[in-house]
Amino acid sequence: MEILSLKGVKKNFKKTKALTDVTLSVNSGEVLGFIGPNGAGKSTTIRVLLGVIARDGGDAKIFGKDVWKHPEEIHKRIAYVPGDVNLWPNLTGGEIIDFFMRLHGGGDQAKKDKLIQKFDFDPKKKAKSYSKGNRQKVSLIAALSTNADLYIFDEPTSGLDPLMESVFQEEVKRIKEEGKAILLSSHILSEVEKLCDRVAIIKNGKVIETGTLEDLRHLTRSTYRVETKEVANGLEELPYIHDLKQDGKTLVFQGENDKVEEILEILKPFGVHALQTTPPTLEELFIRHYEGK
Ligand SMILES: Nc1ncnc2c1ncn2[C@@H]1O[C@H](COP(=O)(O)OP(=O)(O)O)[C@@H](O)[C@H]1O
Ligand SMILES: [Mg+2]
Repeated sequence: MEILSLKGVKKNFKKTKALTDVTLSVNSGEVLGFIGPNGAGKSTTIRVLLGVIARDGGDAKIFGKDVWKHPEEIHKRIAYVPGDVNLWPNLTGGEIIDFFMRLHGGGDQAKKDKLIQKFDFDPKKKAKSYSKGNRQKVSLIAALSTNADLYIFDEPTSGLDPLMESVFQEEVKRIKEEGKAILLSSHILSEVEKLCDRVAIIKNGKVIETGTLEDLRHLTRSTYRVETKEVANGLEELPYIHDLKQDGKTLVFQGENDKVEEILEILKPFGVHALQTTPPTLEELFIRHYEGK
């Protein structure tokens, strides 16, 4: 079921065109990775979704309702973790978690206690003494203890150490299995690669690519390592072979993923001793997009 949908969303800040065309959707039981470098428009998109700022164009719906017209109904059913968590300095972490949970009908106290343990968090200290990572933990524990239908995380692990990152990943898997919808903005590609069913790539305020990791890999190239019996020639002229490096009978190149058969045909006459292909990582896909194509 479609939980969240943005179509052609635009947002300007005076002369800055922060969002020019944001189109994406998230279904229940799905994690959508929302990736792009700093300044691409991830947080602005999320602020539009939360109804914090008004959009200048396009459609934005959560649970089938316009985010700007029905914020109260929508907010009861979503949990949000901002990238930069601000807290009341004189309340303790525990008090703030309870306050956030009460905004969502109380949440689950047993789940909260378990999360406090898992995240190795001390809830008794005042918020002013917390590091960025600890402030994020406050927001994460509160969000993950509430029973929402949609979870929005804006670069949630940027202040967490790797151990805590993996706790977060386990929890995201848990809520996904419960059938929740999750929008995870991130520039940590390994995290997105581990957790997400689909990704949307945003560049300069525009979503330029959406799909499963499989889909996106399909659009791109794999690395080929080949040992031939005879020295191969003529490969550098082929339009679907790129970055060819040849050392005698050893070849390394990038082959376009929809040209596998052609590549095998070309190699065959030289005799193939060994062949290894490696699909691109999300990192590589991403770099290619940002180099501009
Ligand atoms: N309140 C604001 N006023 C003016 N410009 C803004 C404001 N918020 C964001 N921007 C600009 O909009 C663009 C997108 O920013 P942002 O959504 O924060 O990117 P991301 O979260 O992907 O790093 C940037 O160019 C940023 O400088
Ligand atoms: Mg941001």
